[in-house]
Order: sequence, then C-alpha cells, then structure tokens
Amino acid sequence: MESTNSELAKYSDEGAEEGLVIRALRQTAGKGRHGKSWFSPIGGHYLSFLLRPVIPLEHLNILPLAMGLAAAETIQKETNLEPKLKWQNDIFLSGKKVGGILIETKFSGERLLYLLCGIGLNLNQEISQFPDELSKTSTSLFIETDIMYELDEFTTKQLASIGRWYKVFLKGNIEKIMEDYRSRSLLKGKSVKIVDDMTYIGKVMDITDKGSLLIMTDTGEKELFSGSIIEIFE
Ligand code: BTN
Repeated sequence: MESTNSELAKYSDEGAEEGLVIRALRQTAGKGRHGKSWFSPIGGHYLSFLLRPVIPLEHLNILPLAMGLAAAETIQKETNLEPKLKWQNDIFLSGKKVGGILIETKFSGERLLYLLCGIGLNLNQEISQFPDELSKTSTSLFIETDIMYELDEFTTKQLASIGRWYKVFLKGNIEKIMEDYRSRSLLKGKSVKIVDDMTYIGKVMDITDKGSLLIMTDTGEKELFSGSIIEIFE
C-alpha cells in the first residue's frame, strides 16, 4: 500500500465510521509531517485510524499530544524503557527517533469532518535497514532491546492505549494529558531552533495547556502552535 493515511482518507470521504483502522506491513509512499516522506520498510509498524470527535476546536491541538502519549505508553509497557516525546509528537528512545505521528484533518467550513491519525513506529528494523541519513538519528525497539515484537499483539495493545487516551481527550481532561505530556517531554530545560513562519531560537519555557510551545528568544517570548524543531541545544 502507498500510505495508510491516504488509503484511510478514501474511506473517510465515503462516510466511514469513527474507529476504522488501516494497518500496513510496509508502505511505498509513507507520508511524514511537513511534506516529508516516511521510510516504511517491512519490520516497521504503520497504522492509521479515523476519528470524528465532537469537541471545541481549541482542543484540537491537544489530540496529537494525547496520541503521542498513547504511543509512548504502549512502547513503555512492551519494553520497560521510558520513551520521551519531542513536541509535538515525535517519539524518542535513547535520544533517537523511534516513531512519529501524522494527523490530517478535513473541514467543511468551520466544521471538523474527520481527522486521520497515522502512527509510524520503528519496531523490528535492524540498524543496517536504515538509509545513511536516518541511521544516526533513528532507532527501533529491536535495536534498543534485542527483542522482535509480534505485530498483531503490539497492534492490539496500541489500540487499547489509543482508546484510553482518546477517552481522556474526549472528556476534556486536558490537565491530565498535559501533566503526563510534560513529564515525558524531551525538551525540558533545553533550547531549540524551530522553523515555522520563520526560524526561531529560544529556551523552552513550557508546553502550554493550549498544546503550544512557549520559548524565550533574544527578543522576548514566542508562542508556537506548529513548526518543525530542527535542532536541540543542551
Ligand atoms: C513524522 O513525520 O514524524 C510522522 C510520520 C507518520 C508516519 C505514519 S506511518 C502510518 C501513517 N501513514 C502514513 O503515510 N504516514 C503515517
């Protein structure tokens, strides 16, 4: 399959119900955030699911964070390692990226029609499988633990975690999500270089209850709702 998100979009446009899940063993055109591609060989885990939440739109920014928590929770239960989250929802183990989340939304005017949540996790890949440009910055559960993970079992556990965090989100329990998110944040006490409408460098002050990243730059405080962190400084 090209991309589980693209495949799911077709069913969603035809009116599929919330909860539809598509999983692939590999993708030939896996999509990452910011228009990048997602390296998707056999051994990885590629999952997308359809959500049709009825929520205040200002809560929308919190959903990626809740889904990041669900992915981190599943990994932690399976490996006993403690994954960190890099705002907004990159999943890290031992300082390297082990997974990412791509959320795509469809609106009719102001009304949210649906939301596609795609999660890619490096599960059983060996280091030699990563192309050069990824091998220094990426890892997999297998690389970290020397254990091969069973895909069906992993998926069942992952969907259970996703369901639990989605319920917390739907109940509007933003405080709980943010408390857990902050405790897993990779950016605590760090400075970052982030590209949004322009490039900013600043010390991370907080990840706010709006799901935004608050940094202190040379010219004052800056609140970011999106953007790509391209460098982290100690
Ligand atoms: C990122 O750039 O960090 C997000 C990567 C998201 C990849 C997943 S794999 C399953 C789903 N289908 C896609 O094409 N992309 C997402």
